[in-house]
Amino acid sequence: MKAVKITDKIYWVGVIDWNIRDFHGYSTNQGTTYNAFLVLDKKIVLIDTVKEPFYEDMKARLLDILGDRKIDIIICNHAEMDHSGALRRAIEDFKPQKVYASAPGMQNIKEQLGQDLPIEALVNGATLDIGDDSFTFLESRMLHWPDSMVSLLNKENILFCNDIFGMHYACTQRFDYETNREDWIYEFRKYYANIILPYSKIAGAFLKLVEQKGINPRMICPDHGVIWTKMIPEIIAMYKDFAAQKSKKKAIVVYDTMWGSTAKMAARIVDGLASRGIETKSFSLHTEHRSDIATEIMDAGALILGTPVINQEIFPSLGDITTYLRGLKKEKLVGAAFGSYGWSAPVLNKMEDIMKDMGIEIVSPAVKSKFVPDAAKLKECFDLGAAVGKAVLERFK
Ligand code: FEO
Repeated sequence: MKAVKITDKIYWVGVIDWNIRDFHGYSTNQGTTYNAFLVLDKKIVLIDTVKEPFYEDMKARLLDILGDRKIDIIICNHAEMDHSGALRRAIEDFKPQKVYASAPGMQNIKEQLGQDLPIEALVNGATLDIGDDSFTFLESRMLHWPDSMVSLLNKENILFCNDIFGMHYACTQRFDYETNREDWIYEFRKYYANIILPYSKIAGAFLKLVEQKGINPRMICPDHGVIWTKMIPEIIAMYKDFAAQKSKKKAIVVYDTMWGSTAKMAARIVDGLASRGIETKSFSLHTEHRSDIATEIMDAGALILGTPVINQEIFPSLGDITTYLRGLKKEKLVGAAFGSYGWSAPVLNKMEDIMKDMGIEIVSPAVKSKFVPDAAKLKECFDLGAAVGKAVLERFK
């Protein structure tokens, strides 16, 4: 695949990773892209690189456009290795006069790739003249790393925004209007839920800052997924809702099971939630990936977690999902715990304690079933679901 012309003077020179299915613990079922961009002005500027194993693909695209011209400047908007991994090889091959990053970016890249790399730090708000046009750099710290920044190409009015507005979606089309919204909308939500969600307050403040500065780009170029043009108002509106952590009358039940007892309890809890008119989804950790569950929780008002007891502990898969979700910091959840045990009922209190530690408000005591739940125990499960459903509805009064 050749470089793709995106304006008279800008080319996409990134790569498509069709086969990645695990992006540091996040399931990427539709692959991803690592986007990089080449700006041809009096100075020639490369914005970001790609994951190191894909460097030769990017290099071929660069050479196709450059011929015997040189890259003058490399801008690194983000130090994570999917965008900086090929930087050393790009510097060695193309010998740019300058390599720029934010101050934390300079530090983070050097700590990952070597202190000898010739990177210079930009101050927040710095501008860089490249001939006919110029860049303005804005730090976007913790969206989603301390080093993250965005680069605005002023006259072209194009924002290069690293991971912000990105999604893991491999396709040969480069522009939003060439794609079907239904093919990627889940991936767009999933990316926010798994990467940006913990920094939602910062995301909301950043969107406001961009508005206050009167930045209204005609094109937004993230480092993953498609380039936004026609759908810019829609994706910004979605980000505003995501950043506000808006919830619906929706509950998520997540459980694992050893001999089917906790699964039976989960089914009755779903019935109890449904009896209150709550949109409910139930996920077995046998089959669902943590990152898809995190995506569903993003707009939920309640989370109910069920675990069997094993060796006087909660089940390991519950340890996995709660560790992951605690890091993602979904706010404003109510919930409850449930589970089956043989001889260590107090272990189920641990599940509640973990949920409290995640910031979940426990609105109904844990239902604990000794071995297989009988009819009375299943009625308790139904009532737990109904109680959590009532608490969700009260949030919407
Ligand atoms: Fe796509 Fe934070 O790297």
